[in-house]
Amino acid sequence: MAVRGIGIDVVKVERISQSLGRFGARMEKRLFTADELAYCRRMKDPLPHLAARFAAKEAASKALGTGMSAGVAFRLLEVLQPGGQQPRLRFHGAALERFEALGCSLSHLSLTHDGGFAIACVVLEGA
Ligand SMILES: CC(C)(COP(=O)(O)OP(=O)(O)OC[C@H]1O[C@@H](n2cnc3c(N)ncnc32)[C@H](O)[C@@H]1OP(=O)(O)O)[C@@H](O)C(=O)NCCC(=O)NCCS
Repeated sequence: MAVRGIGIDVVKVERISQSLGRFGARMEKRLFTADELAYCRRMKDPLPHLAARFAAKEAASKALGTGMSAGVAFRLLEVLQPGGQQPRLRFHGAALERFEALGCSLSHLSLTHDGGFAIACVVLEGA
């Protein structure tokens, strides 16, 4: 397997809090899937977890080399975390097409949040 892409992103939790506070449910739906929202809402403070997912989506868009353009959008980059496991990415639509066009077959994701910041790192691999 060879590395086909890497991406990293850092997000201020307060920025996500302000965006969601200002634009509410419409913004939540634009950024996050129902499963992501359900997971984060189970937490005592959902905001660091939402910020980490926002960072993961931006990091994934960088690993794809598109950023949030060429049809790649936040909801097409989904963070899977059933609970207590290594988080994973699932690509949908244009993001999946780009993932496959790059020859990728595997992705790796790491998340962290502390001190008001969330960071995500993504590595894409392919044969
Ligand atoms: C690519 C993208 C994800 C970068 O995110 P950002 O938060 O603006 O900027 P960051 O500081 O995290 O990253 C900047 C670096 O990304 C890199 N970058 C830019 N486009 C890139 C791409 N297509 N692929 C990989 N990396 C890219 C740049 O090298 C840049 O560093 P530089 O300006 O010093 O060269 C951004 O262009 C984007 O599409 N953001 C979505 C914005 C949005 O829709 N926000 C609304 C949400 S509420």
